[in-house]
Amino acid sequence: MDFIKESADKKPIVDTVFAIVEKAKKAKEMFGEENVVDATIGSLYDEEGKLVAFDSVYNSFNEIPNEKKAAYAASFRGNDDFRALAAIHTLGKGKVNLACKVIATPGGTGAVSLVMSEFLETGETVVLPDIAWGSYILMAKDKQLNYVKYEMFEEDHFNLNSLKKCVNELKGKQNRIVIVINDPCHNPTGYSMTKEEWQEVISFVNEVSQTTPCILLNDIAYIDYAYDLDHSRDYMKVFEGISDQVMVVIAMSCSKTMTSYGLRCGAAIITAKNQESVDQAEIVFEKSARSLWSNVNNGAMINFVKVLVDHNEEFLLEKAKYVDLLDARSSIFIEEAKENGLPIYPYKEGFFVTVKIDNEIKEKYHEKLMENNIFTVQVNHGIRVAVCSLSVEKCQGLAKKMKDILDEIQK
Ligand SMILES: Cc1ncc(COP(=O)(O)O)c(C=O)c1O
Repeated sequence: MDFIKESADKKPIVDTVFAIVEKAKKAKEMFGEENVVDATIGSLYDEEGKLVAFDSVYNSFNEIPNEKKAAYAASFRGNDDFRALAAIHTLGKGKVNLACKVIATPGGTGAVSLVMSEFLETGETVVLPDIAWGSYILMAKDKQLNYVKYEMFEEDHFNLNSLKKCVNELKGKQNRIVIVINDPCHNPTGYSMTKEEWQEVISFVNEVSQTTPCILLNDIAYIDYAYDLDHSRDYMKVFEGISDQVMVVIAMSCSKTMTSYGLRCGAAIITAKNQESVDQAEIVFEKSARSLWSNVNNGAMINFVKVLVDHNEEFLLEKAKYVDLLDARSSIFIEEAKENGLPIYPYKEGFFVTVKIDNEIKEKYHEKLMENNIFTVQVNHGIRVAVCSLSVEKCQGLAKKMKDILDEIQK
């Protein structure tokens, strides 16, 4: 008996990470930890191979009384102090002069999902990057949307021409256009756009918006690992130049920022020129939130405020140590990649570096790497190396080994 509705996609989720994580685990048991490179896991790990959970975050969390952790949030929109601080943390206090409302969400995932749900009708098309976090496509399909993919790069910079082409082809075919940009610290390439590139994107969407309203989803999941943290939000100033037919929704996540992946907390920061447009989006987001998850983890929201208000210095110092570590790990890999001619996408910062590989040989290359006890994750047009979970020692010599194996399969 088939109980599931006809329109549902019944194929199991292909979890490209979990299966390889398991293989890496087995290889470590068989060949010994020291002989295996496990670059699969997309969370921050320390040099001893342990998941990082910031003391500044969890000591603070443990001070929260149980009954507060147990309680529902103050509203379906989230706690007011969390919402206010999420906006400031994202945009800077008074720095971006736009109307703004915030809805707390279970992680950045919730914010991305709301955008996919509330702007496009069934069967319409969302614009996604071609190299991207896999969940965008999953969500689009789940909401019965089609998707088109713009190419992320033209040589080593953001491919505005490809984005323009995708959007121009959609113009006139649907009432609204939704564009997803995961920046800065793009997953999985580690690219961050320049302020000028953002300026060009905004000029373009303004132009498009003369005929078709545009919604820009800026997914900033990894922003707090930018190497120049103080200036990591500078590009958002450019959003002030949007037309009144453009809305920018920023998907903010506490998962990476606070090393609290499982606490499920984030926010959708809704911005536009007009207060009315923002209020309208807030209403539909709140209803959708109510119907899907009801309310967001109260303890996580309380703690976000507590950490940033009462323990900010300690938190920033602790996080900075790991940002430096990411820099050290990625620099080793990138320098060696350059020395040995291993092609990589233009990494600037973030959790991942991605090796540029044609899809035709990717599967074979990935297999060969595993035969050599190097475990990575396949992405579109590439092989993702998670420097976030790979020790400095394991990063050393890795690019050369990967290049040698690439040469071998291309012989
Ligand atoms: C690009 C990107 N966006 C958003 C998220 C959302 O994560 P979370 O829902 O845990 O905040 C992730 C998590 O891996 C991600 O990689």
